[in-house]
Amino acid sequence: MKPSYLVRGQPGHPTHPPLTDATIGIYTFATVAAVLSALGVSEENTATAWWLGLIVGLATTAVTSTTGLIDWLGIPRGTPLWRTATSHMIAMLSATAVFLLTAIVGHGSYVDDEVGAGSLILTLIGFGLLTLGGWLGGTIVFVHGMRVLNLVDEPAARASSPVPSAEEERAEKV
Ligand code: HEM
Repeated sequence: MKPSYLVRGQPGHPTHPPLTDATIGIYTFATVAAVLSALGVSEENTATAWWLGLIVGLATTAVTSTTGLIDWLGIPRGTPLWRTATSHMIAMLSATAVFLLTAIVGHGSYVDDEVGAGSLILTLIGFGLLTLGGWLGGTIVFVHGMRVLNLVDEPAARASSPVPSAEEERAEKV
């Protein structure tokens, strides 16, 4: 087992994608809570859920971005894949900056048990950037095929095994 597998994940089982699911899910929860609070649905509870959701999302982003950064560092510079991955990084870091700003300026709203208009707009901008970054992340994987092994005939037991086969190790290019 290579030491890099501990951070990057194994061939066919990269670490970054499952962490992105959690991060996007938490920010989505926070955005839905902000909209519900602004609509007056259980306003105080949803305002609390919104702000705490942002904080948990920001904490999760630290781990998610670190794994993404390590994969990004291994991409040959100047290639089409590198350009897409760099756009993805910029979109995700911008989304993170907006969510961080929202949590800071929105702290007063959280204390007052409501989501103000400014906080709602910032949350929606952050969510828009997150969606753009998610689209570009999908492009990295499903169009450029980064970290996809495509071993269609790999036996099911070997494909899901926690110990990568020699074939899987050979198939991982970037
Ligand atoms: C909030 C932070 C981030 C989120 C939510 C996120 C989200 C995503 C998503 C959804 C994918 C596609 C994976 C899939 O569909 O299964 C992806 C792939 C990828 N992302 Fe991110 N990303 C984040 C931060 C970053 C950063 C900061 C970088 C680079 C510095 C980066 C580099 C990559 C790379 C290289 C891939 C290709 C797949 C892989 O390496 O595992 N990501 N990301």
